[in-house]
Formats: sequence, C-alpha cells, structure tokens
Amino acid sequence: MSILITGGAGYIGSHTCVELISAGYDILVVDNFSNSCAESLRRVEQITGKSIKFYEADVCDKSALRIIFSENNIDAVIHFAGYKAVGESVEKPMMYYENNLMSTVSLIDVMEKYGVRNLVFSSSATVYAGDNPMPLTEDMKLGAINPYGKTKLFIEEILRDLCSAKDNWCVALLRYFNPIGAHKSGLIGESPKGIPNNLMPYISQVAVGKLQRLNVFGDDYDTRDGTGSRDYIHVVDLAKGHVKAIQWAINNTGCEAFNLGTGKGTTVLELRNAFVQVTGMDVPYAIAPRRAGDLAEVYALPAKAKDVLGWEAELDISRMCEDAWRWQSNNPMGYEIDNTIDILK
Ligand code: NAD
Ligand code: WQD
Repeated sequence: MSILITGGAGYIGSHTCVELISAGYDILVVDNFSNSCAESLRRVEQITGKSIKFYEADVCDKSALRIIFSENNIDAVIHFAGYKAVGESVEKPMMYYENNLMSTVSLIDVMEKYGVRNLVFSSSATVYAGDNPMPLTEDMKLGAINPYGKTKLFIEEILRDLCSAKDNWCVALLRYFNPIGAHKSGLIGESPKGIPNNLMPYISQVAVGKLQRLNVFGDDYDTRDGTGSRDYIHVVDLAKGHVKAIQWAINNTGCEAFNLGTGKGTTVLELRNAFVQVTGMDVPYAIAPRRAGDLAEVYALPAKAKDVLGWEAELDISRMCEDAWRWQSNNPMGYEIDNTIDILK
C-alpha cells in the first residue's frame, strides 16, 4: 500500500511518516520546503532505517502532481501541505487562500484523474464556532474567525461537496486539537521559524535560553487558574491517528470529520508547571493581556475517533513535556534549516 504525504517534511507530517513506515506502508513525500527542510526527512530515514522517496514540488502545481502520480502507484493521500500561522493569515489572507485552497483543489483534480480517491485531510479544531459548549463534538456549529481557520473550513466544505457528488471518494477530515511534543528519539520535532506563536515551542525556547520569559496571555478566564485551557495532544498519538484514518479511508466511502484530541483540558500555567517539573528547567513567566481571538477553553470529545477509527490518545502531559524538551535541548536551533543539503536518495 503506497501513501503520498503532502507536506511530509513538516512537524506533523514527519512524525506521521515514521508511524506509517512502522505500520508497514510504503510512503512518498511531496513538499516545497516553504516551512521545513530536507533534514527532517533524513532524520525520519535515520529513525526508521528506510529511505524515503521524495519530490520537491509545490502541491498547487498540477503538472508536478501529474508527474508524481504517473511515476508511482499511489493508493491514498494524506494532505498536510498548507500554511498554518493564524496571525500571518490575518496580515496576508490572500497568501493563505491561494496556498491552502489551491493546493487542495489541484490535488483533488489530479487524484481524480489518476483514480486515487482516498484522502485524509489536516483540518483543525479552529473550524468550530466560538460559542459552542465544551467538549466539542463533530456535529457542533462551525465558524472560523481568521483567514487560516476559514481556509480549513472552506476546504472541509469543498471535500464534503466532492463526496456528495462522487460516491466513490472517501475523505477523513481530521480536526486536530493542540499538537505538541516530539518523537522520543529527539531527532524530529517542531522547528518554528522566528519567534514561536504557540505555547509549547515558546516554553521550550525560554527553557533553552533563546527567549527571556513566557508571556501568559490572560489570567482572568473562567478556568481552574484563570489562564487559557487547551486539549494538548502528543504529536506521536496524532500521527498514529493518521495511520488509523488512512486505513478507514481506504476501506470506506463518504466524508467524515473526526476530532483528534485527548478530551482533557490543560491550562497555560499547568502546562508551564508540568514542563518545569518534568525537565527541572526554569521557565520564568509574566502575566500579559489576553490575546485577541483566544477562547477560555477548548477541548474535544474524541469518542467518534475511538468508535469509528479505533484510535485514542495514550501519552500524557508529562510525556509531551519530556519529549518536547528532549527535542529542544538536543536541537536548540531546530533543524538549522538548510534547503541546499542534498541528502535524499
Ligand atoms: P508545518 O508547516 O510544519 O508542515 C506543513 C508542510 O507543508 C511544510 O513542510 C511546508 O513546507 C509544506 N507546504 C506548505 N505549502 C506547500 C505547498 N503548496 N506545496 C508543498 N508543500 C507545502 O505544519 P504542521 O504543524 O506539520 O501542520 C500540518 C498541517 O496540519 C497543516 O495543514 C496545518 O494547517 C494543520 N494543523 C496544524 C496544527 C498545529 O498546531 N501544528 C493544528 C491543526 C491543524
Ligand atoms: C495555547 C494557549 C494562549 C502562547 C493554535 C491555532 C489553532 C491550531 C493550534 C492550527 C492559549 C496561550 C500561547 C504564549 C500564552 N493550529 N499562550 N502565551 O491558540 O489554542 O491554537 O494552534 O490549526 O488554529 O490557533 O494554541 O499554542 O497558540 O495557545 O499564554 O506565548 O496558550 O493564549 O490559551 P491555540 P497556542
């Protein structure tokens, strides 16, 4: 069984490559390195002992996709490729609409031409409207508030329409909650460019001495300690969810959304304190104003993924902190991105 992974050099994609290879799948990757580098795939090869077939190409480019599909016998696709920074999407909405929507539309078109109709798509908890009660279930009201979230929502709609029109397609829309952590080897992990927007990379960069202190965005929310609460999920659990989802997509038809979360909320201070406890590192912090657009708490009901996909998260917050720190302390500069390294066969 051969799976094409778009955006496979990125944070979640690289971890999913490891889990797919471990589960016995043949994989090939397409990535344009707009937010990653070839080194992550070299590390996946190191972890798995397998070489990875790789195409450096833009998923928006249909002619490049046609070459990939004509040269390989692809059974299914996992589509990670896309831009993901919420703040940047507010400043450059067209860049987000163009890349995220065009890449998906081009991919669908070429998949259809080559008769490949099983797709797993990286959606996000951000597609849920902000006024839903917790925990979030897949049937709740949708409504994104920033261009990034809207690209995910629009793509979900496109894929639902596709499956309504063509009953031989199968699409799993995976709504990730907050992926953190890294592979236990410490070889692959999240390598954000510039100052991180997200909490865990920020905490680990404070711990490693790259940033001075954590700004806690608001301590007056209606949560256990007043700070924002999220459903953090270990990236390896998330990657294993893709293995289950691809099995489901290959054996079914239709379009279904699945929450991939743990079902448990952890506040900013609880995550910071767990990290300090597990690593023994100092993470100074200060309370700062709330961040625009943030909700008090967000967490999943992951029951559908358990019932239908047979998947549930296993790793706890301590493991997430331990693994995030192993990656960060072994790689203080991330992958030291150098796209010129020609290490892939
Ligand atoms: P990432 O930026 O690390 O990975 C995305 C990969 O896609 C990168 O390697 C990038 O170079 C590549 N890419 C982007 N546009 C491309 C294009 N047009 N052609 C080819 N390659 C392209 O991000 P990630 O954290 O691994 O996220 C993967 C997916 O999951 C994204 O679609 C993201 O929106 C979604 N997601 C991420 C999170 C999160 O918190 N990390 C949460 C929910 C959903
Ligand atoms: C978590 C909590 C912050 C940074 C984002 C995207 C979402 C999805 C996952 C892609 C919040 C607080 C954060 C900091 C802080 N991505 N915080 N200080 O906002 O839940 O979700 O990533 O789909 O679309 O919006 O994650 O890690 O940014 O924030 O206090 O320096 O940490 O206020 O309560 P978020 P996050």
